[in-house]
Amino acid sequence: MPHLSSLCAYFLMLLSPGMTNTITEDVEVLVLLPQNNSYLFSHARVAPAILYAQQRLRTDGGKFSGFHFNIHFEKSDCVNDALFLLVDRSCGQKPDLILGPVCEYEAAAVVRLASHWNIPVISAGALAAGFGNKNTEYSQLTRIAPSYVKMAETFTAMFEHFTWKSALLVYEDDKQERNCYFTLEGVFHLMADFNIKVYPFFPEDRLDTDDILQSIYDTEVVIMCMGADKIREIMLAAHRRRLTNGSYMFFNVELFNASSYGNGSWRRGDKYDSDARQAYASLNTVTLLRTVKPEFENFSMEMKKSTEETGLHDCRDCGSVNMFVEGFHDAMMLYSIALHEAMKSGYSKKNGTAITSRMWNRTFEGIAGQVSMDDNGDRNGDFSLMSMTNVEEGTYEVVANYFGVNGTFQMLPAFNTDHFTLKGRHKAHAETPEKSCGLGVSALTGVIVGAVLGTAMLIAFYFFRKNYRITIERRAHSEEGDTRKHRQLREDSIRSNFSAA
Ligand SMILES: *[C@@H]1O[C@H](CO)[C@@H](O)[C@H](O)[C@H]1NC(C)=O
Ligand SMILES: *[C@@H]1O[C@H](CO)[C@@H](O)[C@H](O)[C@H]1NC(C)=O
Ligand SMILES: *[C@@H]1O[C@H](CO)[C@@H](O)[C@H](O)[C@H]1NC(C)=O
Ligand SMILES: *[C@@H]1O[C@H](CO)[C@@H](O)[C@H](O)[C@H]1NC(C)=O
Ligand SMILES: *[C@@H]1O[C@H](CO)[C@@H](O)[C@H](O)[C@H]1NC(C)=O
Ligand SMILES: *[C@@H]1O[C@H](CO)[C@@H](O)[C@H](O)[C@H]1NC(C)=O
Ligand SMILES: *[C@@H]1O[C@H](CO)[C@@H](O)[C@H](O)[C@H]1NC(C)=O
Ligand SMILES: *[C@@H]1O[C@H](CO)[C@@H](O)[C@H](O)[C@H]1NC(C)=O
Repeated sequence: MPHLSSLCAYFLMLLSPGMTNTITEDVEVLVLLPQNNSYLFSHARVAPAILYAQQRLRTDGGKFSGFHFNIHFEKSDCVNDALFLLVDRSCGQKPDLILGPVCEYEAAAVVRLASHWNIPVISAGALAAGFGNKNTEYSQLTRIAPSYVKMAETFTAMFEHFTWKSALLVYEDDKQERNCYFTLEGVFHLMADFNIKVYPFFPEDRLDTDDILQSIYDTEVVIMCMGADKIREIMLAAHRRRLTNGSYMFFNVELFNASSYGNGSWRRGDKYDSDARQAYASLNTVTLLRTVKPEFENFSMEMKKSTEETGLHDCRDCGSVNMFVEGFHDAMMLYSIALHEAMKSGYSKKNGTAITSRMWNRTFEGIAGQVSMDDNGDRNGDFSLMSMTNVEEGTYEVVANYFGVNGTFQMLPAFNTDHFTLKGRHKAHAETPEKSCGLGVSALTGVIVGAVLGTAMLIAFYFFRKNYRITIERRAHSEEGDTRKHRQLREDSIRSNFSAA
């Protein structure tokens, strides 16, 4: 009986002196996370963090101890489950707060509905560029993990610092959750002033390294997002063609599963290890900057304990706290701060607008350090740049950090300017301003269409994909003004999916 318990709490509050600042309220929280542990944000990994936050809020005797969170965990499948669950549940009572979903397409549908119903949504996912549009559809969305566009700031900062002008984005597009597509879309979105080419490929294709490396010749920087094995294949092929001699910069982006990069990532125990080690000397990795503070120790240990108790042994780094785990913990904190402020100003918990606006444009203390939210409700991100600093040993170090809150690039002692200086460039090529497009500027349209079409298009796309790249490239030549290009890009992302369906 929620009413009875709130009544009880109310009397307790009246009886206990020194708690006059506490506001009592029941809060219905709906958490939408996948059960499948192959996701870094699965229920088994993230739920303990949410419960840990609930416990902290309840027991630390502070001004939030009057909030009673009734947390309902429901499953998402990264397709439609979360939406259906939200609709079904809301026939009875609508939740006051939604945490998740993380997957882009699923989040799009849920956030759209929640925004219509004026319910705050906080997610450590929904990182695609399209969600940055908070004017209408996604008005209630607060992103507690740095989005892909925030990550892309690291690249613009580097490009400006080193006066690089052109980049090739190479990514694997699974046409399902499309994490790499959305990751590099962020770069594409932010780097409109640079000369950007894209090269998508599909998981079922044979990796045509010759074709990829052909596209490298007239660019300076290669930015990649794909599985670790494919990165290695491309780096080996580039090394064989002597493209790793300093004339080109190679980057890969791996935000959440950093354990797959850095020390030893080139090693597979095959005959190519030595080549791979040398090739990786010119591969730099952009990842999230992780901070820790004393409170984090206990949190981290508790998370490890919980995942062990639930029998999560099927993964290598289950115990480690990733950005999703940390983010959903901080989501509870941020919501409590905002709800408290809104209620003190006389608004009810049902006024999502009043609460959401109080979560934006503020800085608060998260479990691992300061969390800074921009005035669009998106977290400012801090990122690290890792490079191989000892080629004999093949070991990596963080050589620089990018701080989103003030937009500064901080070089660490291990930073070697020479490593990031392009050598022996044949500048003539880089001049031609020519842009291909394959990444829609608006993920929005992609999100809308994709959510509707689901996986059916995947199969159909198989037959279409061969022509896809050619179409893009041909169109690129006939493009003129920027406005026209942008419109066309938006059409592309619809068209590519529709044509497939
Ligand atoms: C979990 O996801 C993986 C990868 O997407 C898939 O191969 C596996 O079948 C899924 N497991 C279950 C129980 O659905
Ligand atoms: C993280 O990277 C490792 C090593 O490449 C890989 O085995 C694992 O499946 C990855 N985990 C996820 C959730 O992507
Ligand atoms: C974390 O802190 C709580 C309360 O201070 C304590 O009960 C718990 O044992 C600590 N956990 C670990 C793993 O140290
Ligand atoms: C909700 O809060 C906003 C201010 O954030 C206010 O303008 C609006 O009138 C409130 N709505 C209701 C129904 O109280
Ligand atoms: C964000 O907060 C700062 C002060 O903390 C204020 O000066 C600024 O106007 C706010 N921005 C918006 C868009 O509300
Ligand atoms: C890699 O190993 C070296 C030497 O063992 C160590 O100094 C360095 O901190 C490690 N780097 C990372 C990113 O773990
Ligand atoms: C930018 O922010 C970071 C982290 O808050 C801080 O360490 C750094 O000194 C700041 N840099 C400048 C130039 O303000
Ligand atoms: C590196 O190799 C490329 C391709 O073979 C060549 O064009 C370039 O001049 C070389 N650069 C240096 C610094 O040797």
